Amino acid sequence: MCGIMGYNGSKNAIPIVIKGLKSLEYRGYDSAGIAYFFNEKIKIIKEKGRISELEKLLNNDNSNLCIGHTRWATHGKPSKINAHPHMVGRVTLVHNGIIENYKELKDNLEKEGYSFKSETDTEIACSLIDSIYKKNNDILETLEQIQTILKGSYAFLIIFQQDKNIYALRKGSPLVLTQNELGTFVASDIPAILEYSKKFYFLEEGEVAKLSKESITFYSKKNIINKKYNTFNYDLTTAKKNGYSHFMLKEIYEQPKVVKEFLDYYFENFKLIPDISKYKKIQIVACGSAYHSGLVGSYFIEKYGHIEVQSYVASEYRYKEKFIDKDTLVILVSQSGETADTIASLRLAKEYQATTLGIVNVIGSTIARECDEVIYINAGCEIAVATTKAYTLQVLTFSLIAYKLGVIKGNIDNNLKDKIKTDYLKLPQYIDDLLKLDYNNLTNKIYSKKNVFFIGRQLDYYSCLEGSLKLKEISYIHSESYPAGELKHGTISLIEEKTPVVSIVTDEKICEKSISNIKEVKSRGAYVLLVKKSNILVDDSAYDDKIEIPNTFDLVSSILTIIPLQMLAFNVSFKLGLDIDKPRNLAKSVTVE
Ligand code: G6P
Repeated sequence: MCGIMGYNGSKNAIPIVIKGLKSLEYRGYDSAGIAYFFNEKIKIIKEKGRISELEKLLNNDNSNLCIGHTRWATHGKPSKINAHPHMVGRVTLVHNGIIENYKELKDNLEKEGYSFKSETDTEIACSLIDSIYKKNNDILETLEQIQTILKGSYAFLIIFQQDKNIYALRKGSPLVLTQNELGTFVASDIPAILEYSKKFYFLEEGEVAKLSKESITFYSKKNIINKKYNTFNYDLTTAKKNGYSHFMLKEIYEQPKVVKEFLDYYFENFKLIPDISKYKKIQIVACGSAYHSGLVGSYFIEKYGHIEVQSYVASEYRYKEKFIDKDTLVILVSQSGETADTIASLRLAKEYQATTLGIVNVIGSTIARECDEVIYINAGCEIAVATTKAYTLQVLTFSLIAYKLGVIKGNIDNNLKDKIKTDYLKLPQYIDDLLKLDYNNLTNKIYSKKNVFFIGRQLDYYSCLEGSLKLKEISYIHSESYPAGELKHGTISLIEEKTPVVSIVTDEKICEKSISNIKEVKSRGAYVLLVKKSNILVDDSAYDDKIEIPNTFDLVSSILTIIPLQMLAFNVSFKLGLDIDKPRNLAKSVTVE
């Protein structure tokens, strides 16, 4: 939610910040703005819409210090006036997060004589800083004080009139910093500053960073502290489109490669896959697609480890009655490692003394840092808002955890162990084969429809949830996923002539039941697209089109079933001419509650 970027150095800061903001647009893209020093004064340029709209307003100004923002609206609609930066008195800032006690602060500030132009909580925070700074004239003291007053989440970049530094502080929302011979850089996420260095500092809550032209100074309670940097050898190419029309398409096509790398690495270092056999209770907590991967994970762990697992949506988990103790393992799944509800759930689990395991993509992110143990999925940068390769690797991580668990507990014997391993090794090729299919015909059957239904049982139902989410988030076609057996308890009444129903059937034990459900919708006029394992036989009359995936163990087939559904979602959205990488109203990193 919102991307922020700042630069202070010897080069023209404006193009550097604009470029950085573009790589953060996945965090929000409804308005954008920058603030920079020009002729000793702070100048602000902002606009509703994408950064490309902001660029149209830029002139040839040259400045050595600039802060910028790309917004995902929370308080106040997307508009020029609500766009960041906000300036009050001597203070100008950009903000990622939500100030929860804004109402109370606003009332107090109004009594002091402040009035507000925008509808944002950010302008209130800006006024608060100005008010305190007016009284003490001490920047560091002011930044200490606001941290005791503000409630909610924030990452701020702040500049003060007559002070040629950028100040950064955070709570909840992330900030990463770096420096080189050209100056100092700060941003919400690594892709914005990746090209300047491989050494990054993560700002911790309670710390303040001061970025001068030459160096970064870190403070804790106004005392200078030494911080160690982290060195990451990020692959720069993963943050670029590399000839693909869209990041989503590129990320879909990267799957054979990242899956192969993942398997090579973790089979070589199998001890890095945690042994979770000692836990009696396991809870998996995540949001969005990561939650769907958790559902698949719960199925695998129950089946191969015989341990009961509950999966929860993080925004629900954090407010529910807790049944967690020191013998509970809580697994937090997050591509970004910065999702606000997942972080809050992690902290709660720790309060209850559970052991926490993170399944995370972004190295050094909050969830990765705060979990007792972390497995990195190593997907590289994922930029498209709709996740593809990260989801696949999350499922694969659970698959390997369950595989190891099954072997340890004797539920997977040696013979089976080798057979499953053979399937794993063929997985990249199988994915590649599915990517090569022609999706045009299927796209044509779906793109003009108002509703699409996805049905499956057990594991297939969980894949349906992800397939349905993929389609709706980027095509805006309403879609729902149902356990196949549940359809006739209401939803079947929505099936009309040619209503698309996508059905996944991969489980030999219950395939007959699913096939009956498919026939029920087919006989009511539905257009049925069947995704099935090649060894499962289904009467031709039961479906209209089919996609076959190879006959593999479920630890592998659960990854294969999602590939055609990703392709279908992409192609439908493409045919509709939509903005696939940046769908309406969404952001990739949800750092507010
Ligand atoms: C957003 C993204 C989803 C993602 C979810 C959880 O909604 O668009 O693709 O699954 O957040 O994000 P996380 O970074 O925690 O996996």
